[in-house]
Amino acid sequence: MVNVIPDQLALAGGAAVGGVQGDRVKSRSEKYDELQSKRALSEMPAGADAVAKQHERGKCTARQRVDALVDEGSFVEFDRFVVHRTNAFGLDEKEFLGDGVITGRATIDGRQVFLFSQDFSVLGGSLGEAFAEKICKMMDLAMRTGSPLIGINDSGGARIQEGVVSLGGYAEIFWRNVQASGVIPQLSLIAGPCAGGAVYSPAITDFILMTDKISQMFITGPEIIKTVTGEEVTFEELGGATTHATRSGVAHLVAADEATLWDLTRALFSFIPQNNREHPERFDSDDDPDRSVAALDDVVPDSPSKPYDMHEVIDAVVDYGDFLEISPLYAQNIICGFGRIDGRTVGIVGNQPNVLAGVLDTRSSVKAARFVRFCDAFNIPLVTFVDVPGFLPGTEQEYGGIILHGAKLLYAFAEATVPKITIITRKAYGGAYDVMASKHIRADVNLAWPTAEIAVMGAESAVKTIFRRELAAAADKERKMQELVDEYTERFANPYIAAQRGYVDDVIEARRTRSAIAGALEMLAEKRVARPDRKHGNIPL
Ligand code: HXC
Repeated sequence: MVNVIPDQLALAGGAAVGGVQGDRVKSRSEKYDELQSKRALSEMPAGADAVAKQHERGKCTARQRVDALVDEGSFVEFDRFVVHRTNAFGLDEKEFLGDGVITGRATIDGRQVFLFSQDFSVLGGSLGEAFAEKICKMMDLAMRTGSPLIGINDSGGARIQEGVVSLGGYAEIFWRNVQASGVIPQLSLIAGPCAGGAVYSPAITDFILMTDKISQMFITGPEIIKTVTGEEVTFEELGGATTHATRSGVAHLVAADEATLWDLTRALFSFIPQNNREHPERFDSDDDPDRSVAALDDVVPDSPSKPYDMHEVIDAVVDYGDFLEISPLYAQNIICGFGRIDGRTVGIVGNQPNVLAGVLDTRSSVKAARFVRFCDAFNIPLVTFVDVPGFLPGTEQEYGGIILHGAKLLYAFAEATVPKITIITRKAYGGAYDVMASKHIRADVNLAWPTAEIAVMGAESAVKTIFRRELAAAADKERKMQELVDEYTERFANPYIAAQRGYVDDVIEARRTRSAIAGALEMLAEKRVARPDRKHGNIPL
């Protein structure tokens, strides 16, 4: 471990804090030199070897990371001279300027953000009292100025030498994360270990982005798991980026390397506003909002049981086909992500017929519910593409709480007051019809394609349910079945019964979808909704 007080600082007058060196008062130029020396020291507080070690681990330093993420030269550091106040376990002999975390403000695309970047080269990036105070100062400033907060995490967790003080520091951060939730966007970038209770700060923030192979998140590590459950698992299997992107859903985006992490972060940042009182920036777009997309008329296959890729629809509708998918590898039966239409940011939710026929299950419901709530909190209109055969049947789903999880999505769509535009491309069956931003839960504009089938259930299931006796009595069961299915399909599997009642506002050719959405967004630009006065709702968690 490097002791930074000694020679260099003493030479720079570090021992003469009051400006007295020996028995003589330091000159002004010596005091200026002292500042330079201290500042230089704070650039690499644990020394060159520790930085080299960080590079050996395949990681950039905390400072390099900030520089790579923000606009060039925009970073203004706070608290570079802060040090810990601990005497225990030899820490009285070790002092690191900055205490292992770099904090400050900067701009990204000219927009102000507050940041912290944990420095693994100092005591493993572990969080002590002063470290936590530095982060809290940034969070308070971000809240006071209505600016997003970005945290770069690379830490061994609670600083063991500081004991409960470190736990208190974490809790101060968690409390602020909660106060800031829905007020300023909070992004967590995981660029190293993030273990134990430390994971709860990222978990409360809006988005978690992980770097592949060098970041891990877990509550308890492999050794404790082995002791308690006997399971053997590696760090990577337990809490690596792939695990969290595919199995747990904890990671929203994964970057192949650090450079990609900064690109992804900036891309995400471009879609979101500064705070809950602002709208996302509207970009100039040369992509004609009334652009007709003839290919969309052919996307839905003739057979209702044939899948297609909802990405084709989304990509065709957004400006320049530019779509940033959130959690692309998790619960792929629903698609969530950001795009722009006529330069305006929209949050897009779409059932994916290509995966599990686009059915809603526990995982897809929770994934989409959280996304919808983010969009609603930050004034991002919702565009929902519906092709859903219903909720996934089965004991696994029922025991897994599909009732509560499905209700989360229903709750999120119903509670959202941002502009809500819904397009039914094909199936909108049963409860899932209601849930997927239907007119009844206050979507503003509901449209259907001619291929839409809005009904209580699919034709075969419906016929088997209501004509059980007739089918049993029929001489030629197959023929009878086909007749009844055809009759049901003719009568119910279309958009016009819903359109007769005004549940959909219009039936449009698929090719006109982009133009219709752009027009609806323009119409709803000043949408205002008063909410009932209450402390908060009670979303079924
Ligand atoms: C103090 C720590 C530390 C910690 C690491 N270091 N974690 N110092 N407190 N929590 C120090 C190491 O002693 C070492 O110092 C240096 O950082 C680098 O650590 P290495 O182990 O050499 O690095 P590596 O092999 O890459 O392993 C990284 C690691 C491992 C997986 C994170 O260090 C580790 O398991 N650390 C302990 C993790 C932990 O149990 N944290 C507490 C979790 S509980 P030297 O001097 O040798 O360079 C928690 C509760 C939070 O965080 C609760 C909030 C409510």
